[in-house]
Amino acid sequence: MNITILGSGYVGLVSGACFAEMGNKVVCIDIDKEKIDNLNKGVIPIFEPGLEPIILKNLKNKNISFTSNISNAIKNAQIVFIAVGTPMGDDGSADLQYVLAVAKSIGKTMNKELVVVDKSTVPIGTADKVRETIQKELNKRDLQIDFHVVSNPEFLKEGAAIDDFMKPDRVVIGADSVYAFDVMKQLYSPFFRTHDRFITMDIRSAEMTKYAANAMLATKISFMNEIANICERVGADANQVRIGIGSDKRIGYSFIYPGAGYGGSCFPKDVKALNKIAEEYGYKANLIRSVEYVNDAQKLVIANKIVKRFGEDLSELTFGLWGLAFKPGTDDMREAPAIYIVKELIKRGAKIKAYDPKAMKEAKECYLKGVQGIIYVESKYEVLKDAEALILLTEWKEFRSPDFEEIKSQLKSPIIFDGRNQYNAFNLKEKGFEYFQIGK
Ligand code: UDX
Repeated sequence: MNITILGSGYVGLVSGACFAEMGNKVVCIDIDKEKIDNLNKGVIPIFEPGLEPIILKNLKNKNISFTSNISNAIKNAQIVFIAVGTPMGDDGSADLQYVLAVAKSIGKTMNKELVVVDKSTVPIGTADKVRETIQKELNKRDLQIDFHVVSNPEFLKEGAAIDDFMKPDRVVIGADSVYAFDVMKQLYSPFFRTHDRFITMDIRSAEMTKYAANAMLATKISFMNEIANICERVGADANQVRIGIGSDKRIGYSFIYPGAGYGGSCFPKDVKALNKIAEEYGYKANLIRSVEYVNDAQKLVIANKIVKRFGEDLSELTFGLWGLAFKPGTDDMREAPAIYIVKELIKRGAKIKAYDPKAMKEAKECYLKGVQGIIYVESKYEVLKDAEALILLTEWKEFRSPDFEEIKSQLKSPIIFDGRNQYNAFNLKEKGFEYFQIGK
C-alpha cells in the first residue's frame, strides 16, 4: 500500500518505519526541512531502540522516504496518517491547530478516494472536525471525492515503541464505513502472526479509548503513590504492599510501582486534556483531577525528603543526580520529575552534578536550558565527588547494581535518595548507608 504520514515525530516515525518494514511504500512528511534532510541521510532525531536500523534498511530499499512536499505525497497515497503534535494549550486542552492545518492540506490536494487516519491523540469529536475541514476544501475546489476518516489511536511506549508496534496487544479502529474498516484491517493484518487482535468500534469511542487507557494507567500510578505516602506515615512498606495487592489478578502487578511521579509526553498531557474535555461537556471529573493533583505533588516528594534531611537552606551543598529522562530507555525529558526536583533544589541554593546515559543533551539544550547551578558529567561515578548525597530519579539498568563501596568512598556522607525504589534497604543499611525511598 502507498502510505503517507503527516508528522515525522515520535509516533509518525515509528509508524512509518514499521509499515515500511512490512513492505508498504511509506512517505513521511514534516515541515521541519532540517529534520527531513537529516532523515534522508539516515540521521534519526530521537533515540528509540531498534528504530534506526529499520529506517536505514528501508531507506536503502526505498520503502521509506522523507520529504517536505506534502501535495505530491497526498496525491499518491491510499492512506494518509495524521501524526502531528497536539501540544497542551494554555488552558490544558489539546491544541488542534496542527491537526486541522494538515486536514486542510489534505482537502486542498487529494484527487482520489482516501482513508484519513487520526493517529495523534485528539479530543473526542476531532474526526468530525477533520472531516469538515477536508470537505470544506473539496467544496472550494468543486470536487466530489469519497474520503473516510478513521480514529486509530496509538498505544506505544517510548523505549519499547518498535516492539509495541510490531506485536500489538490490540489495534483499535474507529470508523463509520465498511471500506475504511477493510483498508485498515488489510494494512494491519501482517502484524498479527497467530490471530488478529482488531477491536473495531465507532469513531468517538476509539478517540475516547486512548484517553481512558492512559487515564486508567495514570490512576493506578497516582493511587499507588498515595498509598506509598500513607505507608510512610503509618510505618508500612509500600513495596511489600505492592506485592501484596498485585497478586490479586483483578489489580495486577503492572503500573503500581510508587515513584517520583509519572512523566512523559502522554500521561500528563492526556490526563489534563481529559479533565478539560469533561469540563467542556459540563462534567467535573473529580477522580481524574485528583490523579493529576497527586502526581504534581509526587514530583516534589524526593525534594521534600532532602529538605527534611538537610534543612530548608541548601546553599553550599552539592547533590549527585542519576537520571534525567522521564523513564529508562529514552532521551525524552518531557514532564520528567527531574526537571521539577532539580529546579526546586537549585532554588534552595543547592548545586547539582548530573548524569544520564541518554538525556543530557535534551536537558542542556531544552528542559534545563539556562538553569544555573547544574553541571553534567560523563559517567555515573563522576557525579559523586564532593556531593552530600546521591539522588536516583530514573531506573536505568546501569544504576541497578552499582558499586556501593565506590559510592560510599566518593560521597561526603553515605546517603542515597531513591525516587524509584531500586535497592535493598536492609543491604544498604548494613553497608552503612542512610537510604531514603518512596513509601517506606
Ligand atoms: C504511555 C503508555 O504506556 C502508552 O500506552 C501510551 O501510548 C503513551 O503513554 P510512555 O509515556 O512511553 O507510554 O511511558 P510508560 O512506560 O507508560 O511510563 C509513563 C510514566 O509512568 C513514567 O514516568 C514511569 O516512570 C511512570 N510509572 C510507570 C510509574 O511511576 N510507576 C509505574 O508503575 C509505571
